[in-house]
Amino acid sequence: MLLVPGIQFTGKLLSNRWDIVHAAEALGIAAQFNDFDLTTNGEKYSRIVYPVSKEKAAVHHVINSAVETLLAGGELLLLGAKSSGIKTYAQKAAARLGCAKQLQKHGNDYLSVNRFDETKAGATLDDSDYTNLRQPDALGGLWSKPGLFGWNKIDVGSALLASLLPKFLPTEKNGEVRIVDLGCGYGYLSVQAADLATAPEQLHIRASDNNAAAILACRENFQALNIHGSVSAGDAGSEIESGSADFLICNPPFHQGFQVEGDLTDRFLQQAARILKAKGLALFVVNEFIPVSRKAEGLFQQLQLLSREKGFCVYLLGK
Ligand SMILES: C[S@@+](CC[C@H](N)C(=O)[O-])C[C@H]1O[C@@H](n2cnc3c(N)ncnc32)[C@H](O)[C@@H]1O
Repeated sequence: MLLVPGIQFTGKLLSNRWDIVHAAEALGIAAQFNDFDLTTNGEKYSRIVYPVSKEKAAVHHVINSAVETLLAGGELLLLGAKSSGIKTYAQKAAARLGCAKQLQKHGNDYLSVNRFDETKAGATLDDSDYTNLRQPDALGGLWSKPGLFGWNKIDVGSALLASLLPKFLPTEKNGEVRIVDLGCGYGYLSVQAADLATAPEQLHIRASDNNAAAILACRENFQALNIHGSVSAGDAGSEIESGSADFLICNPPFHQGFQVEGDLTDRFLQQAARILKAKGLALFVVNEFIPVSRKAEGLFQQLQLLSREKGFCVYLLGK
């Protein structure tokens, strides 16, 4: 479904992406932002249409949930390009919903239609315990879950940025320091910054992400570690007040679902410039081939390449 003006849609849209929910609501479409929780309202549906996610655990979770939320005889429609794994998912969905596999090709995309037959429903698919937060070994005690970017590892670029925090994070000597973590994921960068605070109550961290699973995990980490601040959902920090941050940390996304989106970095840089106070500073880490100097032109007065390592560059940006 293309969210364009004039669109008519009488169903309910559910997405784990805040930008999509926001765009739908702006067009008068009933929409819900959550981590693919189809059961929240206890409602049953006659049709669920799902463009398959990139992550297998999320797709398996949605197929499993369809059994709980479809009315008898209701349909689960899966959409996806060949590279999305749609052919395999069509097979699995058919087995789970108790029907024959039906896959239609439409240009480069495939549509899998699955009619639910309660009497023949098959075994639950392995969804890696999708709904539950856990503490993956590699995260040193931090909470995370499937459904969010790199959920069970520490990103190499983020670790590089974090190694520079001791040198650049403003100190709290002169009062409260307000930090924004843009595209926070499970909150790795926020936690690293909070760890460096000498007066934790004076370091206020605002973490923001577009992804519902990231919000859940990051909130859990803020609570577990008593981090002073808040976690909110938005599109590249669209919900954060202008001129509100002394310091901003960001490892911007490069992919949105299956697509590589080059202009995401531009949007994150623009929003960072808007959110920072007049003399605020930002640390950005990006893939080394992203032309940050050109993209930051006109937005920031100061731009310094601090480190280039393992395919990533960390920049210091100042207004
Ligand atoms: C490269 S990851 C970095 C995650 C985290 N900061 C870390 O260091 O582990 C980029 C993050 O941006 C988020 N993201 C993607 N599109 C976004 C958008 N439009 N607005 C806000 N966040 C977004 C993703 O969900 C992901 O958590």
